[in-house]
Amino acid sequence: MRKKVGIVLAMMLVGCAILATRFYEVDLAVWNFLGRGGGPDPATLHLHGEFVESNLGLADDPNGSLIVRMVAEQYLFVPHCIVVPAGVPVHFRITSADTAHMLSFVGTSYGLKAVPGTVTEATFTFPRPGEFKVPCHEFCGPGHYTMRSELHVVSRDQFPPLRPAERRTCEPQ
Ligand code: CUA
Repeated sequence: MRKKVGIVLAMMLVGCAILATRFYEVDLAVWNFLGRGGGPDPATLHLHGEFVESNLGLADDPNGSLIVRMVAEQYLFVPHCIVVPAGVPVHFRITSADTAHMLSFVGTSYGLKAVPGTVTEATFTFPRPGEFKVPCHEFCGPGHYTMRSELHVVSRDQFPPLRPAERRTCEPQ
């Protein structure tokens, strides 16, 4: 009897350890599965809502700042390349269509986790022009090491103002 109690306690301890260390993979996934997350449904991202492909990339936010919307999926970030002006705060919103990914900007301390069913957001300012590699920094499957994107930071005067409702990526205008 004592032995059984011990085993049950040990299993509970392991369970707690998993819950404590795998927040994005376990806790949040369960939370979203229970319908509590309120985030976008990963299965219908491409069909409607904020993260349809035509709404991705850099855009003007109604509150006057710049906003970048992205989707992470195995094994790419959409859009693949973003261009932003230097020295201007840029608000990022990202979600995932499948599993957890991590958008990271090499040479900075900035990073953003993409989690299915959840929108992760943060505001970053890139002080100087330059090109940044944007690899995925969370092991997300066999194609993880090929999951790479780019960020081009251009000086403010080289960055033409956005037209209303325009979404911008690195594609030539
Ligand atoms: Cu996506 Cu690793």
